[in-house]
Amino acid sequence: MKTLKKISLVLLVIFVAMQFYRPEKNLAQGHHTGIFLSETNPGSELEIVLQESCYDCHSNHTEYPWYNNVAPVSFWLAYHVEDGKKHLNFSEWDSYSVKKKDHKLDEVIEMIENAEMPLKEYTWTHENARLTKEQCEALIAWAKKTRSLYQLNEIPQ
Ligand code: HEC
Repeated sequence: MKTLKKISLVLLVIFVAMQFYRPEKNLAQGHHTGIFLSETNPGSELEIVLQESCYDCHSNHTEYPWYNNVAPVSFWLAYHVEDGKKHLNFSEWDSYSVKKKDHKLDEVIEMIENAEMPLKEYTWTHENARLTKEQCEALIAWAKKTRSLYQLNEIPQ
């Protein structure tokens, strides 16, 4: 019993100490996805879908839940955001070549077709990020159309 108490106390001290370390937040302001939206033109409805289902991990602005204030959750979320942005960042669309944009849209189609995105652990806690069948179809149609425009060089860079 005594050992259990000691272990609990040590864990408590670690937990409290952890709270002093806060990972840097992902909080760009303004029209951070402006270039992506003007080039790919998803339209107002899909713009909201992308914002609600993808931007938290694939843009420079995350809407943090309250529990992000608690370590180690904050570290876990920061890791996911970093990882997501490394693979695809709608806020830095202008830094991608046309070939890369086309490829990323191809990946978007694949991820949605396979129901791999948004990540399951995310939709458990973000119900409005779940994609309906219609939203999936609309996103795929938009990504396919935009790919063909990039391939035909019809989107001014
Ligand atoms: C909770 C965070 C999170 C959300 C929300 C999310 N993603 Fe992701 N996404 C990731 C992570 C992490 C990776 C990289 C690891 C992997 O592939 O699983 C990734 C990878 C991707 C890739 C692969 C890019 C590449 O070139 O490797 C695509 C495409 C993608 N996501 C599209 C989307 C779309 C579209 C949405 C919204 C419908 C979305 N994601 C929502 C975290 C997220």
